[in-house]
Amino acid sequence: MSPVVSYALHGNIGVISVDNAPVNALSHAVRSGIAEALTAAYSDASQAVIISCAGRTFIAGADITEFGKPPQEPSLPDLLEQLDNHPKITVAALHGTALGGGFETALSCNYRIALASAKVGLPEVKLGLLPGAGGTQRVPRLAGVEGAISLMTTGNPINAKKAAELSLVDRVVNGDDLVAQAVAYAEELVAANAPQKQARTAQITLTDSDRAMLNQQRTQLLKKTRGETAPQRIIDCIEAAAELGFEEGLRRERELFMECMADPQSAAMRHMFFAERAAAKINSLPKDTPIVDIQRVGIIGAGTMGGGIAMCFAQVGIHVTLVDMSEDAVKAGLDKIAKNYAISVSRGRFSEAQVASIMANITPSSSYQDLAEVDLVIEAVFENLAVKQEVFKTLDGICKPCAILASNTSYQNIDEIAAATSRPSSVLGMHFFSPANVMKLLEVVRGAESSDSIIATAMTVSKKIGKVPVLSGMCYGFIGNRMLRPYSREAALCLMEGATPAQIDGAMERWGMAMGPMAVGDLAGLDIGYKAREQLTEEQKGEPASYLVADRLVEAGRLGQKSGAGYYQYDPETRRRMDDPAVMEIVAATCAELGINRRTISDEEIVDRLTLALANEGAKILEDGIAQRASDIDVVYCYGYGFPRFKGGPMHNLEAVGIPRAVARMEEFASKLSAQNWQTAKTLQELSTNGGKLADV
Ligand code: 3HC
Repeated sequence: MSPVVSYALHGNIGVISVDNAPVNALSHAVRSGIAEALTAAYSDASQAVIISCAGRTFIAGADITEFGKPPQEPSLPDLLEQLDNHPKITVAALHGTALGGGFETALSCNYRIALASAKVGLPEVKLGLLPGAGGTQRVPRLAGVEGAISLMTTGNPINAKKAAELSLVDRVVNGDDLVAQAVAYAEELVAANAPQKQARTAQITLTDSDRAMLNQQRTQLLKKTRGETAPQRIIDCIEAAAELGFEEGLRRERELFMECMADPQSAAMRHMFFAERAAAKINSLPKDTPIVDIQRVGIIGAGTMGGGIAMCFAQVGIHVTLVDMSEDAVKAGLDKIAKNYAISVSRGRFSEAQVASIMANITPSSSYQDLAEVDLVIEAVFENLAVKQEVFKTLDGICKPCAILASNTSYQNIDEIAAATSRPSSVLGMHFFSPANVMKLLEVVRGAESSDSIIATAMTVSKKIGKVPVLSGMCYGFIGNRMLRPYSREAALCLMEGATPAQIDGAMERWGMAMGPMAVGDLAGLDIGYKAREQLTEEQKGEPASYLVADRLVEAGRLGQKSGAGYYQYDPETRRRMDDPAVMEIVAATCAELGINRRTISDEEIVDRLTLALANEGAKILEDGIAQRASDIDVVYCYGYGFPRFKGGPMHNLEAVGIPRAVARMEEFASKLSAQNWQTAKTLQELSTNGGKLADV
């Protein structure tokens, strides 16, 4: 028998048990082990066969590490064909998360029993794929078209109760011993002479309203999942389920699955799956590094950022003391949080009772003295070094000695902040992204003296509050905002050299960015960059062409969306952006002043300049040891800056384009545009000649 699959008779019931930690993925060994066990069950005394799993979950899908490697028999479709045609009653016993190929295995059994705590789902779309082992054909037959669309195009799992409502699960049970309950269920089925139900035989016809819904979903998905191929192919498969019959539908599914698998989008999204998990790991951290149990958090600053951070902690049951200068300021902050939750309640995300218990976790205060007992303080005050140093000095005098002191700064030097305290080893950066209760990224910034323990604690607590943490070393702007500077510089230069805000944003958005750089500037507020520049020397600011237009917009009161105008005008009702000739007048005047002759710029040039500027700076960040690995940079950009996951982040995209090609294009920019701006990172030059990979840097 296989080392990862066992088979034994429990009375007259055969029990197959998969034990392939951590998530029982369907590796070759698992597939062949199940196939062998099914074969053994043909001729033994079993009257029914159960597929169950040891460990924390039922099979969580195909083994993603095998994708792109030569196929090994039996394939999953072959195995499921064997399962579907098995002469004995088959039952899947589900616990944990039955996902992807795992759930498709369960759907190929005659019956499914699940613990109430189990979840089932088809998350392939998150990997740029569609369910490729019958899921697209069986789910619509069992759950109907609407349920199938939702399950497969969102990729989000549903709980066992909901799955039972959709006829995807036959029995939901509570208790510990799932296998014993599954055996009892199988015995019951045998005793009742229950039929061998097969999803394949269920009737499916598309009503006119189903057709209308499919068309509507197709259109909505074009907008919601802009640029992604897999969601559209999933709709194709659901249509095939209704129109082609089961066998033909399966063939169509296979064809489209292979097409998606060969698409660079899937390679990018699979890269992101592993990148996200790698980012949480800190290289060379001793295994026994102590992790502080964070039970009480203090947040200083009840503005938008502080309030959003407070929500993250309060939602997972961690008590927050939210401090601001005055009772009025903290009350205003609390009101804003309550308003945010009222919107969530109206959208059905939380119940009134849940919100009440979350709000009860937040205590408002206007006194730093109330932070004496907290385990972690996060400062989210005005972005000014002297102000932050003052706050940390005060905290140092009040907080208990083991408390961790974090700054949510976007740019300031953590070491200079730490130097204001007597405990620099307890100081680090925890850089949230706005809106902090929504954005998944959290940069954990290590100062020169930050201890291993506080870094490990910050990574752990970040995951607890649902964030994707990435470790960054200390430099101006850390990973994300440091890369944003050359990206914004190139956007501003394209504007000066010949483009319009709409052309730049349009080119980047069609390429895949969630929002173009000009629109992002308007959303964040152009005054933020303006104030940051005020603290820089002329040399640090860079060439005037890269910021003068932004300065002039701010000086004209155009701060972005909040003032109704920035690079665009905004409709006060809908916030729709509209071109504004006044902006182009400012651009023209600034060009005249700087002696810049405008020319026609292609969308391709815009995309190349902006994406290569990002990746080149990313490579320098790697060289400087600011990021642990290239894939961490991809995580930062996909989770914090709207970089499309289906391009896999700026570093993955660079490799997909081809490093030698990218380097050649940068050299072209260096000779035609600016040698100063286009100094190719040494690492990229080396990889370009030696054919190496960024993952090995
Ligand atoms: N294949 C290979 N490795 C996998 C895997 C998979 N399907 N799923 C998880 N892993 C690995 C992770 O990389 C991680 O490895 P690491 O410890 O070395 O970093 C380890 O298992 C644990 O994973 P998580 O850290 O994600 O553990 P969690 O407990 O947080 O989450 C989970 C568990 C919900 C199962 C989550 O891992 C998950 O969502 N997995 C992916 C599920 C998926 O996408 N399945 C579909 C695959 S495609 C498919 O089935 C095609 C089919 O239709 C033909």
